[in-house]
Amino acid sequence: MGGRPVIPLTLAQIAELTGGQLHGEPTAVVTGEVVIDSRRVGPGGLFAAVAGERADGHDFACAAVAAGAVAVLATRPVPVPSVLVADVAAALAALARFVTDALPSAAIAGITGSSGKTTTKDLAAQLIERLGPTIAPSGSFNNEFGHPLTVLRADSSTRYLVLELSARGPGHIAYLCGIAPPRYGMVLNVGHAHAGEFGGLDQVARAKGELVEALPADGVAILNADDPRVLAMAVRTAARVVTFGVHDRAACVRAADVRLDDLGRPSFTLLTPEGSAPVTLRLHGAHVVPDALAAAALAGELGLDLAGIADRLSAAVARSRWRMEVHRRGDGVTVINDAYNANPESVQAALRALRHLAQDGRGFAILGHMAELGAISRASHEDVGELAARADLAGLIAVGPEAEPLLAGARRVRSWTGEALAVPDGAAAFDALANQLKPGDVVLVKASRAAHLESIAMALQEEADR
Ligand SMILES: Nc1ncnc2c1ncn2[C@@H]1O[C@H](COP(=O)(O)OP(=O)(O)OP(=O)(O)O)[C@@H](O)[C@H]1O
Ligand SMILES: [Mg+2]
Repeated sequence: MGGRPVIPLTLAQIAELTGGQLHGEPTAVVTGEVVIDSRRVGPGGLFAAVAGERADGHDFACAAVAAGAVAVLATRPVPVPSVLVADVAAALAALARFVTDALPSAAIAGITGSSGKTTTKDLAAQLIERLGPTIAPSGSFNNEFGHPLTVLRADSSTRYLVLELSARGPGHIAYLCGIAPPRYGMVLNVGHAHAGEFGGLDQVARAKGELVEALPADGVAILNADDPRVLAMAVRTAARVVTFGVHDRAACVRAADVRLDDLGRPSFTLLTPEGSAPVTLRLHGAHVVPDALAAAALAGELGLDLAGIADRLSAAVARSRWRMEVHRRGDGVTVINDAYNANPESVQAALRALRHLAQDGRGFAILGHMAELGAISRASHEDVGELAARADLAGLIAVGPEAEPLLAGARRVRSWTGEALAVPDGAAAFDALANQLKPGDVVLVKASRAAHLESIAMALQEEADR
């Protein structure tokens, strides 16, 4: 909950930094968290009123002050102490920039990529916390609101900020870098997430590379050597380049002998310029190995020794929900809840993990749509359907608006003998599958956030215990 101490700011300072109009006591001091969710307001906090899709924060201005907020950052008058600004996101950016400038000795690391930002950020934070007080966002706070809100949680004891940066178009990452100028910048991969908004992978790469362009000459760009579009970013930065990779033997930080246990948890030998050490991850799927290498590379640059990195990586847990959560039921059915989001690369990664977990047994996938793919949407859904059939699933249950292209893609694989079904929603998917499941079966549940399939995965997890 809110209320933890931050860098204190008077209302007069807030008005000055944001160019806003103060309605309240200039000397009143914000000493608690800045939040946009009125339920998270704590004593001494600042409530930023944002008009969302479902609710308008201005309606909660009084409740926020009653809950302890010193004032409200708002775009229209509210009957409580406030700073009125033209644009709340820009105001948060200005405040966050003030905070980063007030912490010149804090090391700021930015993470971007099409898939795995939150996973990598959570791993990196668990390594770096060993070195000193660390601020990292909870979940996926990575846009023009979440990013400054995370930075604003820093206080004078903060030594490390580990930030997730997302882009839905050119200029977005450069903007976020302006709020909290990173010295360490990590690019994980260039994939099809939001490709519709960008117009293609080369445009995605242009945008993601804004992170390394923002780094200073004494900074470090941490790049995935296995992704050619990421490696090519080396020429776009003044910073020193450190590479990581599973396949590229020239990478500075590598994994050798990657093996998966029966629940898909990778073990490998971590190879760094310092030497080698064994790592066993608690996360699931081979695709998290590059995420772990990126986190290891960052922690190494920040001064954590190899033994510390290997220990911490092996102890690190999934901090953010619904990304490859593997649950083995009492009756021997395994449910993979990967319903946080979906794009072609992350579905492919999840299908690989499903195939591994199912071994020679039956694998099922409940797949919903992948959002924001634009012109390549239909073709991408067909390709993913084909991958599902190639994974030789016993059943593919396609949910919602893109069910038809998913199944069309699966039918391209003529040798596939599994069952294909289109259903309108998650409840129908549950009804279609729940009774068929037998010990040894593995079910993957995955879709873009908007489909809310996590509740179906959770219902399937609990089904055996009823
Ligand atoms: N290196 C990777 N390659 C492919 N898929 C990955 C990789 N790392 C994680 N994933 C998968 O991508 C999905 C999203 O993971 P995560 O939340 O870490 O990514 P993100 O980049 O933060 O996503 P978002 O853009 O929604 O913030 C999960 O299904 C996860 O298993
Ligand atoms: Mg994320």
